[in-house]
Amino acid sequence: MQDPESLSTQLLAWYDRHARVMPWRVSPLDCAAGIRPDPYRVWLSEVMLQQTTVAAVKDYFHRFTARWPTVAALAAAPDADVMGEWAGLGYYARARNLLKCARAVVADHGGRFPDTREGLLTLPGIGPYTASAIAAIAFDEPATVVDGNVERVIARLRLVETPLPAAKAELTTLAARLTPAIRPGDYAQAIMDLGATICTPRSPACGICPWTHACLARAEGVQTDLPRKSPKPEKPTRHGTLWLGHRDGAILLERRPDRGLLGGMLGIPGDGWDGQGGPAPASADWHAIGEVRHTFTHFHLILTVLTARLYGPPTRGDFVPRHDFRSGALPTVMRKAWDLARHEIES
Ligand code: ADE
Repeated sequence: MQDPESLSTQLLAWYDRHARVMPWRVSPLDCAAGIRPDPYRVWLSEVMLQQTTVAAVKDYFHRFTARWPTVAALAAAPDADVMGEWAGLGYYARARNLLKCARAVVADHGGRFPDTREGLLTLPGIGPYTASAIAAIAFDEPATVVDGNVERVIARLRLVETPLPAAKAELTTLAARLTPAIRPGDYAQAIMDLGATICTPRSPACGICPWTHACLARAEGVQTDLPRKSPKPEKPTRHGTLWLGHRDGAILLERRPDRGLLGGMLGIPGDGWDGQGGPAPASADWHAIGEVRHTFTHFHLILTVLTARLYGPPTRGDFVPRHDFRSGALPTVMRKAWDLARHEIES
């Protein structure tokens, strides 16, 4: 087995030539010249990138950093503005924790992120992965970063046949042995780039991989079988109802409770498919206009959408004038319902 030092040297040499350009990243050339990334931008990008692709994150990242260029600016933002900008990225607890974290950095750390993995772990919403990524990328601490891409690369390189998630601890140990003391930040980004561009799930480009000669899975011809995965339980399907009421060019929306699914997000009043909704927001001549489907991490959801013109006062929610309303501020499942209903309301 090739020694860790020559493996990391080979990967860093590959990264020097092939690093992807990303709006939060300092290129290896600039890094060598002593330019350091802004911890705020590294943190924001890492939180956005959890469960989301680089392509999906870029526009959000530009909008956030244009509107809130520093952690202090973000900490001072109203919750609803931040939730509105986050809409569409999913996993809304991340956005609530993002704000909590920004406010903790300002209140408890004088507006500067702690510069160690241990210090970062004390902040809300920063778990082991994010703490390692920020410590490595922003502060060049030799922390080991293990995301799905890295798990795949290591499982193949070291021929780990144990299925995920059981293999996680072993993969983390093996990844840590490879993490170099020099340029750990570049190394962390290099191994993520390798997983994203060369060591891809279905058709890895082994012919141009800097680690091809050392890869045990490649030697056995089993690279596309790894990492193995334990079968996931089937997702249940839940059903629910949304009531989109309207009156004189305004629509009835409500802010969802902070806890639970889509917590803190703006939404169309619903019947609580997840046990949190309530009855129709007004008695009216509700009629069904169709269904929307959306898949969350743990279940599929089918929602029947009803609309009605409202006359009396609603029991929940607030009327939002149509011209003040930006459908982009809704989470994706609600935007699907709006897209279905809008013609009806606007005609
Ligand atoms: N995925 C998550 N963080 C990343 C980063 N810093 N570079 C590339 N891909 C990533």
